[in-house]
Amino acid sequence: MDFLSIIEDKKLGRELSREQIRVFAQAAAEGSVPDYQLSALLMAIRLNGMNAVETAELTLAMAESGAMLAPELSGIPVDKHSTGGVGDTTTLILAPLVAACGGKVLKMSGRGLGHTGGTVDKMEAIPGMRVTLPEDEFVSIVEQVGCAVVGQSAELAPADKRLYALRDVTATVDSIPLIASSVLSKKFASGAKAIVLDVKTGSGALMNTEEDSIRLAKAMVDIGANAGRFVTAVVSGMQEPLGSHVGNALEVKEAIDVLAGRVPEDTPLCFVAVYLGAHMLLGGGQAKTLEEAREMLLHALHSGAGLKKLKEMIHAQGGDERVCDDIHMLPEAPVVVPVPAPCDGFLKATDCTALGRAAQLMGAGRIRKEDTIDPAVGFVMEKRIGDRVQKGENICTLHARTAESAAETAQRILAALTFTDTPCEKARLLYDLVDVQGVHPL
Ligand code: URA
Ligand code: CA
Repeated sequence: MDFLSIIEDKKLGRELSREQIRVFAQAAAEGSVPDYQLSALLMAIRLNGMNAVETAELTLAMAESGAMLAPELSGIPVDKHSTGGVGDTTTLILAPLVAACGGKVLKMSGRGLGHTGGTVDKMEAIPGMRVTLPEDEFVSIVEQVGCAVVGQSAELAPADKRLYALRDVTATVDSIPLIASSVLSKKFASGAKAIVLDVKTGSGALMNTEEDSIRLAKAMVDIGANAGRFVTAVVSGMQEPLGSHVGNALEVKEAIDVLAGRVPEDTPLCFVAVYLGAHMLLGGGQAKTLEEAREMLLHALHSGAGLKKLKEMIHAQGGDERVCDDIHMLPEAPVVVPVPAPCDGFLKATDCTALGRAAQLMGAGRIRKEDTIDPAVGFVMEKRIGDRVQKGENICTLHARTAESAAETAQRILAALTFTDTPCEKARLLYDLVDVQGVHPL
């Protein structure tokens, strides 16, 4: 088939046929079409969109562009995926909790992307941890422990790998059909049957408005329904970092703190982790109602069963599970300094993308693809939106490699915060639940 005619059709806003979409995904996977033609088609899709049928076809074609895993497990394989956040360590909390309740969490995670953090980078902050496992070992850990977290393997959804890299450099990331097909093609290829999607909304998210986030959530739920997979999407807030800790080892520490019961269960990170985990238990069939699922998870939290599962998972993946009892075994930054509040008042808003970017520039993320991560650096937000602050009080503790980096980061953080004289509301956490029945405001 003539690739130019596919670009031409989408340029004119026409619906692409199943065959045209298959040719596109295959060409991306095989490298048989040059980057400039793939890029032109990506931009045509970004500008003219795709309908639900085209988006579902593209997802399946991308999933089938490489290996399709069909893991043999004694339960339904469940997975959770976030569209990308800052200080979002829910995976390291909910995977062990769900496993402690009998779930089979087959988790394929990403690395940090742009200003957002990635679970695979966080896991590598744990001494010895292996995030690349042969497929049979991955599946056997899921079967025995109940959860395993690994990086995306090169054999899965190779079309997405190529297209994602092109989108990143051609301003075509922010397209609902392209995001939806990218996320779900990888989940379908990894064999997950029940998938909970955390679609972030707000200043730190890919989609900044609730309306766009709901559209993305709906697109993904529809694809799942067409493909016979159970997909539930939660639209949740990303107006400020979800946890207080931002940075790889710091976020692992916070996850351990939550599982060890050192953090109140109504703190945003714990609350959202339990809410998403409850939908995973529903998808996996371990609970019948959301309330029952939440109670099971809270029981696993309070009894220490979740922390025990995290230890088992770390051990099975080659890591040193003693970090769970002694968090000082995690890498620690040499320069730890406070950021004093510039005025009296209340924290009104954060530019959450700028906060994520500040951590990235400290070395917690990559600026270029080949950069290595500094696992120790980052910061701890001491205040949340709505909190009162007093001039000079510590609002953020920096964990930096050098004093110079700390000084630069303090400036970036202050520039990302807005204060007000009048009391203001806390940031909203849950917005909507989107499933096959429709959109349910939360
Ligand atoms: N995460 C993905 O895997 N793909 C996207 O397109 C966006 C977020
Ligand atoms: Ca954005």
